[in-house]
Amino acid sequence: MSLWYKRDMSAPSLTDLAIKHKTDKWGLHFYTQHYERHFQHLRNQKVKILEIGVGGYQDPKAGGESLRMWKDFFQEGLIYGIDIHDKSTHEEDRIKIFRGSQIDSNFLGSVLAEIGEPDLIIDDGSHINEHIIETFKILFPKLKQDGIYAVEDLQTSYWNSYGGDSFNLKNPKTAMNFFKGLTDSMNFEEFDRPSYRPSYFDRNVIGMAFYHNMVFVQKGHNNEPSNWVTNNRLRSKNGKSWLKYAMRSIASRIGM
Ligand SMILES: C[S@@+](CC[C@H](N)C(=O)[O-])C[C@H]1O[C@@H](n2cnc3c(N)ncnc32)[C@H](O)[C@@H]1O
Repeated sequence: MSLWYKRDMSAPSLTDLAIKHKTDKWGLHFYTQHYERHFQHLRNQKVKILEIGVGGYQDPKAGGESLRMWKDFFQEGLIYGIDIHDKSTHEEDRIKIFRGSQIDSNFLGSVLAEIGEPDLIIDDGSHINEHIIETFKILFPKLKQDGIYAVEDLQTSYWNSYGGDSFNLKNPKTAMNFFKGLTDSMNFEEFDRPSYRPSYFDRNVIGMAFYHNMVFVQKGHNNEPSNWVTNNRLRSKNGKSWLKYAMRSIASRIGM
């Protein structure tokens, strides 16, 4: 894949670092090119990055590769990992690991109380569809306002054993369909439904990027006004209802 963003050529690429630290984010998967594009602007910042899934499963000594890659990439960053198994042997300066499940909201709350709002969250944990959605619902509201939430291995959206579905591609229980739904959230201001009440995700998702088996969700205030004022077709179609749209649009922006 060709690069369409400007990379900092004075430092090793994230792919170089993935190879160095032996994480399968490059090789088995091809995620590092996408991560670099979306995370590059934060490379020299004091970011807090939280990755669910340290790697190595039951073996306490195995895993930690991606945390070490992130530490190398974000030279000023604080790197936090979560795993259901004990991964404490991988802790070192700027890498801290918590043991617990990605769907345990009390556990996640205690992690966030300790580390504060992350700038970046990555879900590379169980890859079970129900877990991916539940974890996103718990953690996305805790992400920094201009933060980015990435989810890997969305191929499980099509795998029955993970709660996915290859036959009904509109199955509402798959992670892919959950995230596809957020693409409508971004445009809620344009809904032709005057009584529509925007959700938290409507108000706080401002961008999404889908790649093979992964998605990035950009958090921010989704408060750009609707196009209805200048859209003559919509105005004539709705006749006098434009006033309702104006009221609803203003109400949603002031959080009513
Ligand atoms: C694919 S590996 C992570 C690989 C690592 N992020 C990397 O790129 O090198 C997935 C990890 O998620 C952990 N995991 C599985 N279910 C989990 C859950 N419910 N909560 C937290 N971690 C979980 C597993 O123990 C395993 O170590």
